[in-house]
Amino acid sequence: MIRLGPLQVDHPFLLAPMAGITNSPFRRLMRQYGSSVVISELVSANGIEHASHRTLELLKFVETERPVGLQIFGEDEENLVRACQVVERMGADFVDLNMGCPVPKVVKKGGGAAMCRNPALLAPVLAAMVKSVKIPVTIKIRTGWDSGLRNAHEIVKVATDAGVAWVAIHGRTRAQGYSGLADWDFIGEVKAKSALPIIGNGDVNTPDQAVSRYKTYGVDAVMIGRGALRNPFLFEQSRDLLAGRESRPVTAERIITLLKTQRAYLSECFEGRSVMLHARKFLAWYSSGYPGAAEFRKKVFHIPEEEELWSEAIQFFEISLKKRDMSFLEEPFLMGGHG
Ligand SMILES: Cc1cc2nc3c(=O)[nH]c(=O)nc-3n(C[C@H](O)[C@H](O)[C@H](O)COP(=O)(O)O)c2cc1C
Repeated sequence: MIRLGPLQVDHPFLLAPMAGITNSPFRRLMRQYGSSVVISELVSANGIEHASHRTLELLKFVETERPVGLQIFGEDEENLVRACQVVERMGADFVDLNMGCPVPKVVKKGGGAAMCRNPALLAPVLAAMVKSVKIPVTIKIRTGWDSGLRNAHEIVKVATDAGVAWVAIHGRTRAQGYSGLADWDFIGEVKAKSALPIIGNGDVNTPDQAVSRYKTYGVDAVMIGRGALRNPFLFEQSRDLLAGRESRPVTAERIITLLKTQRAYLSECFEGRSVMLHARKFLAWYSSGYPGAAEFRKKVFHIPEEEELWSEAIQFFEISLKKRDMSFLEEPFLMGGHG
């Protein structure tokens, strides 16, 4: 057990919030497969009380996801405060503010990564959010706006004074988007001076990387996004490596169990068309790097019928797992998103 601010969690490896990906079924699955905490994708704080059915769907979670945080974004203090209260009423364990989203539509209004540009304006907003709820308020930032404004140190200081519970830092600036590499030295420097728990994030794709980032940079936890899409066993493998235990090997049988579980969770949460949409996406990611993946992906996007899709997937993993070489996990993957 480790402490992550007010939360007591099993180990320091957790799933990053990702739009269109970290929905309730996938969060549930990843909790089961070892992520110590899960966080929803970003949801707009503006008008959250009169939100559409689609937005409210994004805020739903099931009990087995706990500890679960719901992530909001916005720029207006009143709306952000109201959104914190909605999240609290929904019963989430914490509310996370997205301050890393680089998407123009979001930053133009002053939300996402733009919130870090003016720490003096940010201070009262964070303080009002923290004051408005009993659950912890956490934030997720980047190292800064661009190479001329790498002010994560200052943002962490503002967050500390406001009573924020932890800060997750994606080691790139807003200007970098997803290019270059996450700057873990910088994350380590921020951590060394921080009174708050710091969660490091960026480019962690293997259990070795997860454990070495954790130990080398002294962060309180390591957040993993894209790496978990190619290797959904990454959290349990990282946890085992840290504990000095041998991990259970990834066999075709284990992948098939995971697929069946994910299918069940998707079916409980979504209608047929959405199940197919999500199933196709995840199958394409999970298969990436396996021999024959390109051909499999083509098939996946053309099979119209759910039963056939899953049985095709099971067959694919049974055959290609035998031929797999793990080195593909080191390569860059999925270079875009909201944080
Ligand atoms: C498709 C995609 C969607 C994302 N959506 C969000 C989001 O909703 N909220 C957020 O804070 N970060 C979001 N991110 C950023 C990730 O949380 C994470 O910071 C980033 O991917 C770097 O970590 P990684 O290298 O482990 O993937 C997204 C990233 C991707 C690739």
